[in-house]
Amino acid sequence: MEFFDSHAHYNDEKFEEDRVTILSNLYNEEKITRVTCVGYNVEKSQLAVKLAKENSFLFATVGISPNDIEDFSEENLALIEKLAKQEKIVAIGEIGLDYYWNKENKEAQKELFIKQIEMANRLDLPIVIHTRDAAIDTVQILKEHPVKNKGIFHCCPLNQELIKSGLELGFYISFSGNITFKNAKSEGPVSLVPMDRLLIETDSPYLTPEPFRGTRNDSSKVKLVAKRVAEIKGINLEEVAKITYQNANNVFKISEE
Ligand code: NI
Repeated sequence: MEFFDSHAHYNDEKFEEDRVTILSNLYNEEKITRVTCVGYNVEKSQLAVKLAKENSFLFATVGISPNDIEDFSEENLALIEKLAKQEKIVAIGEIGLDYYWNKENKEAQKELFIKQIEMANRLDLPIVIHTRDAAIDTVQILKEHPVKNKGIFHCCPLNQELIKSGLELGFYISFSGNITFKNAKSEGPVSLVPMDRLLIETDSPYLTPEPFRGTRNDSSKVKLVAKRVAEIKGINLEEVAKITYQNANNVFKISEE
């Protein structure tokens, strides 16, 4: 059984010390045979691209997240666009809106989001969306600025209205360790998403699933997310692994082999 972790940050400082060991262990021992390493500012996008070059089973995305708005400049956007043209860059992301951490600069966040949607459309790439406490504005922007290749609601908030809108817009919904948390009320949201539109991810090093909450996350724990999906959907783990692997290949346009 093999797994695809559709969203992790091996470009994060928390992996500085033991990145090589962890990645080799994931592939060889844990059978996490594909991972998308997600960028969120210029520096971390550059590192994601480098890691994808060095590791055959890693793919990368590049972009400036709403929480890295200090990187927003025309010059940096040009840099991101140049990076995105390299091999194994499978999406623009993570991009979007975050009113939980930043309420002060909503207009700048929207502008940055829209500019990167336009970039994805120029480059014929999907997007990876980060949205927090900003569901209405996120959906409105996606309606007004359609993304040709769609993409993913990453670590999708367990908000049924948002999930319905995301599905209607043609996006994939990706669940992380958040669905394993006690009191998460994940049954309703997970049930809403048809299996052919569902992805699993870790968002490592963050959002570690139960029962490991509080420790550093890594892609081996995507199995715990898959297990929770299997429980809610009433199907076996193997099926979840297989379908989500296929879905990730589809959205990122990665060939089977
Ligand atoms: Ni992330």
